[in-house]
Amino acid sequence: MTPARTSGAHTRLVGTAMPVPSTHARSQRSRNPASNPVFAAVITRLITVPIARAIPTAKTTGAKAKGSRFIVASAPSLARRGAPRYVRPMAADTLTLPLPDDWHVHLRDGAALATTVPATARTFGRAIVMPNLRPPVRTGPEADAYRARIAAHIPPGSGFSPLMTLYLTDTSDPAAVVAAFAAGQAVAVKLYPAGATTHSDAGLTAIRKADAVLHAMEEAGMPLLLHGEVTDAAVDIFDREAVFVDTVLAPLLQRHPRLKVVLEHVTTAHAIAFVLDGPPTLAATLTAHHLLVNRNAMFQGGLRPHHYCLPVLKRERDRAALLAAATSGHPRVFLGSDSAPHETTTKESACGCAGCFTAHAALELYAEAFDSVGALHRLPAFASENGPRFYGLPVNPGTVTLRREEWPSPGAVPYLGGTLTPWRTDEPLRWRATRDTPPA
Ligand code: NCD
Ligand code: ZN
Repeated sequence: MTPARTSGAHTRLVGTAMPVPSTHARSQRSRNPASNPVFAAVITRLITVPIARAIPTAKTTGAKAKGSRFIVASAPSLARRGAPRYVRPMAADTLTLPLPDDWHVHLRDGAALATTVPATARTFGRAIVMPNLRPPVRTGPEADAYRARIAAHIPPGSGFSPLMTLYLTDTSDPAAVVAAFAAGQAVAVKLYPAGATTHSDAGLTAIRKADAVLHAMEEAGMPLLLHGEVTDAAVDIFDREAVFVDTVLAPLLQRHPRLKVVLEHVTTAHAIAFVLDGPPTLAATLTAHHLLVNRNAMFQGGLRPHHYCLPVLKRERDRAALLAAATSGHPRVFLGSDSAPHETTTKESACGCAGCFTAHAALELYAEAFDSVGALHRLPAFASENGPRFYGLPVNPGTVTLRREEWPSPGAVPYLGGTLTPWRTDEPLRWRATRDTPPA
């Protein structure tokens, strides 16, 4: 085991010398024609022998990890030419990171809170709580009342803090919205285009109806959180995010150049490229499930309602672009699980609800996604640092440690009177997160 420090004061990364592909990665490869052992052996020999001669691996050189970066392979031939080379980072078996936050979660209300609040408080210090209740959370006093109902379910000692949001409607009052922000009753406003997703019927019917509210928010520094899909039935469901970006978001940023905007649960290569190329006022959240699977998962051997969420899963090239952005270290990309519970019976139905419950293992699922591309060392920025910076909040005190450990996905979790089925019950979880006790 070779310890290595990564960025962030509380971050430790401890690893084995050689990458250990996850079983998920292995099973992905087994569907690949190149997984034919004879083919693979020939290709491996053709490719790795010359490379191994040119760039010895950490194992052959005993190279140590440096800072938060990759292992520097001390390849004599390259060093001679003054060109230090970076190779795949060590596969870490444990990672300690500052207590992360979830910047987009659905906790629901009433008896559901007994399931959702402890699940999120287990590994997150704060969470942006979606306001799409029935009726929605529209005002400061409504947010206060909802916060109090959540607080009753926060496990003692967890220190978990819900960050409340207001649901934007056609009749939202600009002065009342920014007054709720100034009073600390709400940290942001959520815009659901009417009809875009679960419990969005009270949402905005036309973006220009929000001009005055958005202007007031821009002046006050209050962020706008977007469900970024158009609702026009003539637009293909797989194109609704891209059309939103081009026809709604781009003009909105022109009209409100100082408004802080988070494009939530981004699902396409098009949208994430728009955010990465965008102004410093624009950020994106990414879910774990959109980093781990593509739309094929919804149809694998039959219809899989537990993979159905909105915005709907997209193509493999989109998933790859999201994962590249998440692991790039870009400061305006951060964690938002969009964990959205529904009773099992309402998802396994002729008209199943949209939403995946990932809160039982959200941080673990992100770790799996980052580890799949050897980028676990980028998780602290994505999970713990970028979000607070964008929202102007401090990084949480305390740490969480992730350990590589296989454990069975829970098949069903008690929820309301029945159960909910967590996301991806058919594969084990591959990481386990525990909070570290603060030093005495
Ligand atoms: C969410 C829900 O169930 O509230 N569903 C979903 O598919 N993500 C709403 C949302 O965030 O779109
Ligand atoms: Zn959501």
